Amino acid sequence: MPTDSTRSVLTVSHLAKSVQTVDGPLTILHDISFSVAEGESLAIVGASGSGKSTLLGLLAGLDTPTSGQVYLMDKDISAASEDQRAQIRSQHVGFVFQSFQLIDHLSALENVQLPLELKGMPRHEASAKAQVWLEKVGLGERLNHRPKTLSGGEQQRVALARAFVTQPDVLFADEPTGSLDEVTGQTIIDLLFSLNQDSGSTLILVTHDLALAQRCQRQMVINAGNIVTS
Ligand SMILES: Nc1ncnc2c1ncn2[C@@H]1O[C@H](COP(=O)(O)OP(=O)(O)OP(=O)(O)O)[C@@H](O)[C@H]1O
Ligand SMILES: [Mg+2]
Repeated sequence: MPTDSTRSVLTVSHLAKSVQTVDGPLTILHDISFSVAEGESLAIVGASGSGKSTLLGLLAGLDTPTSGQVYLMDKDISAASEDQRAQIRSQHVGFVFQSFQLIDHLSALENVQLPLELKGMPRHEASAKAQVWLEKVGLGERLNHRPKTLSGGEQQRVALARAFVTQPDVLFADEPTGSLDEVTGQTIIDLLFSLNQDSGSTLILVTHDLALAQRCQRQMVINAGNIVTS
């Protein structure tokens, strides 16, 4: 019988994704299977265009596969409705998008407190907790800035604080240090791994940063939509 420490939080079975393009059908991911244990850290690496962001979106239930299954926290999110997937994400998942996807008309603080309010936390408590996480990513002086008035690296740190603030069971991050200088990037990497160690969050990261990939327990290489090593 598996112990809690070996429980799988994510199981991917024969996952494939194809899309229609003006040039005809395009298969982005081919027959991908793997699983990730609770508390594990996994780096997904591979060339630009190999399918990393597409895969991450499917793993987190942001998108649905053409075939195959994704079980996240024991739930088949590939068969779930959009509402059910949103519910599973808000309860269990933090996601850092490659393009940040902050809400333009909300301040940095409001962006970060939103996932807590969606989980039912009262606004004043959510706001206080959001402020703590913005301070941890070095943005204590930028709480009331709208995303458009922040630098690229600052926007990325708001996106990270938004994903960290709920201390999620599974944290997905697409190029989490892509817009950061070395020192700020190191602060973020330390925060990522302290979330992993202190809250037991499972980390699934896409990165071109070799130092970050090597700090993860496991590295998985994707080439043209196939896993080549895992
Ligand atoms: N909706 C779509 N329609 C058509 N093609 C798509 C679509 N989404 C992704 N692609 C193509 O699928 C491939 C994989 O895209 P994806 O964004 O997953 O790559 P990636 O590995 O994250 O690359 P990068 O390192 O540059 O972020 C790319 O060639 C992209 O052009
Ligand atoms: Mg990408």
